[in-house]
Amino acid sequence: MKALVLAGGSGTRLRPITHTSAKQLVPLANRPILYYCLEAIAAAGIREVGIVVGDTAPMIHAAVGDGGEFGLEVTYIPQDAPRGLAHCVLIAADFLGSDPFVMYLGDNLLVDGLTPIVEEFAAYEPDALILLKEVDDPRQFGVAVVEDGRVVGLVEKPARPPSNLALVGVYVFGAKIHEAVRAIEPSERGELEITDAVEWLLRSGCDVRSKVIDGDWIDTGKRQDILEANRIVLDHLERRVEGTADPETRIVGRVVVEPGAKLIRSEVRGPTIIGADTCLVDSFVGPYSSIGENCVLEDSEIDHSIILAGSTVVGIRRIADSLVGRETSIRPSTEMPRAYRLMVGDHCEITLP
Ligand code: G1P
Repeated sequence: MKALVLAGGSGTRLRPITHTSAKQLVPLANRPILYYCLEAIAAAGIREVGIVVGDTAPMIHAAVGDGGEFGLEVTYIPQDAPRGLAHCVLIAADFLGSDPFVMYLGDNLLVDGLTPIVEEFAAYEPDALILLKEVDDPRQFGVAVVEDGRVVGLVEKPARPPSNLALVGVYVFGAKIHEAVRAIEPSERGELEITDAVEWLLRSGCDVRSKVIDGDWIDTGKRQDILEANRIVLDHLERRVEGTADPETRIVGRVVVEPGAKLIRSEVRGPTIIGADTCLVDSFVGPYSSIGENCVLEDSEIDHSIILAGSTVVGIRRIADSLVGRETSIRPSTEMPRAYRLMVGDHCEITLP
């Protein structure tokens, strides 16, 4: 079995972070989302991985290299523009040959891993195995049409969802999918949809199995999804304190403090990770936070947030539910008149008390 990881796309819903980073490289517990996907692939015993890349190819390449670090052999497959998930299968045809493969959207987090899915596929050898998950608002996903407990159709992002079962961004396909992606036409948004390709398999009488999963699944499209995915990953953290803490600092619960980090008169409440060489002075970092490397937090309180590498937060009470990009500075103004003074990039979102 091979794997096809999709790591193109522009990540518009995560701007401004994605102006300078691929959406698949936004960190959860200080590691790119994509790493969790590659680790799951390796853990399922798969070795050969094709990664479909777009405009952010150099960043993905720099982060993953030849895949050796994950025990994988990576082949990069360039896509000229985001032309749809089924288009990715089309351009990966040479790499995939007639082998069955897992297709994994590189911005999805599937907590229970791939092994049970790969085993189920191997046991039944269907033409496709699709994963479904009950969600509150299915309108932003592909949605299953279910009759008598069987999936009889799929619709992409329906205004009126036929069920609350969303199509998870992890699929297993046999060779028949190649015929399907060649047969379908672009959708209204001009993309070759994988949903339409699976529909084609269903209509052609192919064996499409479905599995409703219980484990956590997040499609990390928006800030709240990223924070939720970060929360889930941090929940699996084991305590490891390698940086230094002075006697007045309290480290409570499952906290990771990376080497070189310095904690002075501060409190860190887990699950939380403090990145390498980051400095906390007179600060509180609350549960479900990931502070990147080389940050400085002084006289501030942060919880349920992600702060990326190289950022400085001084004298701020309190930051919550936030995603802060790299090398950002947040501090109170001492100038008169008292005012918010901002140097904010494109597509930012700021909510002030
Ligand atoms: C894609 C698929 C959709 C699926 C979703 C899961 O949507 O088209 O069927 O439910 O991934 O993440 P996208 O997130 O690319 O809009």
